[in-house]
Amino acid sequence: MDHLIDYVEKNHDRYLSELFEFLRIPSISGDPNRRDDVLKAAHWLAAHLGGIGMENVQVFPTTGNPMVYADWLHAAGKPTLLVYGHYDVQPVDPLELWTTPPFEPSVRDENLYARGSSDDKGQLFIHLKGVEAYLKNGRGLPVNVKFIFEGEEEIGSVHLEGFVREKKDLLKANFVLISDSAMFAYDFPSICYGLRGLSYMQVEVTGPNKDLHSGTFGGAVHNPLQALAEIIASLHDKNGKVTVKGFYDDVIPLTRKERDSFKRLPRKDSAFAKELGVKQLWGEKGYTTLERLWGRPTLEVNGMWGGFTGEGAKTVLPSKAFAKISMRLVPGQDPDKVAKLFEKHVKAIVPKSVTVSVEKLHGGKPALTPIDSDAVKAAYEALRKAWWKKPVYMREGGSIPIVVEFQQTLKAPTVLLGFGLPDENAHAPDEHLNLKNFFKGIETSVYFFDELASMTWKG
Ligand code: BES
Ligand code: MN
Ligand code: MN
Repeated sequence: MDHLIDYVEKNHDRYLSELFEFLRIPSISGDPNRRDDVLKAAHWLAAHLGGIGMENVQVFPTTGNPMVYADWLHAAGKPTLLVYGHYDVQPVDPLELWTTPPFEPSVRDENLYARGSSDDKGQLFIHLKGVEAYLKNGRGLPVNVKFIFEGEEEIGSVHLEGFVREKKDLLKANFVLISDSAMFAYDFPSICYGLRGLSYMQVEVTGPNKDLHSGTFGGAVHNPLQALAEIIASLHDKNGKVTVKGFYDDVIPLTRKERDSFKRLPRKDSAFAKELGVKQLWGEKGYTTLERLWGRPTLEVNGMWGGFTGEGAKTVLPSKAFAKISMRLVPGQDPDKVAKLFEKHVKAIVPKSVTVSVEKLHGGKPALTPIDSDAVKAAYEALRKAWWKKPVYMREGGSIPIVVEFQQTLKAPTVLLGFGLPDENAHAPDEHLNLKNFFKGIETSVYFFDELASMTWKG
């Protein structure tokens, strides 16, 4: 093992310059003008997989963005691991808030700044380098490895579910490994076992059939922006609970054991509030902050608009008002069911003075992954070896919708091994990745394959 870890240490600079190339490709899946760049990222990845010694490299077209696949299957009698990641990234606006341009990677202090550095190009790259360490040192991998990378995660994994079902045999694996989340905190190697799901809705409120002069008509008709604000205000009660009827019905409550283990994690509300620039945290009464983030469903307004938002003042009573509202869901809840409950609720409370339409944009299922699988045990040992510290178990508030599909279709337990940090500005300006975590992540990956191979696994 030592010489592989030596190899990793000697190659830090090369890893960075390769990752820079990958990060320079603006593969924003949400921007139709970036379609060529998304394809370029897929092909860059495929070429890189070939370069490190992976075999059977394929770029599968879909009606959306392609899937990139590769495997190395020569560890006879050993388990097969499927590694998933996504090569698409989030949009970059507001551009002016970036210290250096999002697609010109740059290192400052201990961090690598670029869109996709943490979510998820930098993290998936960790396992490419973990595999490379074996394949370039002439001994092959100790387990069988398959890679599957998609380019649509940030727009809801539109084609992945169908792809997994169709290519069930190709993707067949005993375990799934995903690095697309964050560690609990700096110097806390972490294993994540829970993700929230998502139901994303758009609400459109219509008042008068055209924009009106607010002097001539103000007082005669219900302003749709005001009606929308009233609807939104009614979606939570004074205890921060969501008022949508039936919203909590299917929630699987946190266990006593989980609540106790969350309490043992060092986290101070006051420091958290300070870090975020708020005077006080806010949320559902009766739960701690970590419980609210990891184990309770929420409803958030992502944006609302309508009427006049330009510079200066224009007196107008708008015809329409819009809001994008998403609900984070926890295990037990079903995104489609919750979307229907939401629509029903809004339609029931809307006043007669306006009309409302509700549309579901996308969703994703929440997931719990088993913490007693061989893959989790291997991950635990690998993290411990790389960090010289015992890992912690955690959940996450974010969503990786495909996890449930992997569990159901491939019947393979997933291990979520995040190397990001919660404050690395994923989806925001100045996204970055801590370089110590990046390099330690590669060591973890090397140890992980070895640990997994030594498990008394019965195929
Ligand atoms: N990597 C994130 C998911 C994530 C974020 C996991 C934080 C754990 C902690 C992923 O790329 C993402 O952004 N997912 C979306 C899902 C959506 C587009 C369906 C999310 O969580 O908003
Ligand atoms: Mn991600
Ligand atoms: Mn993301």
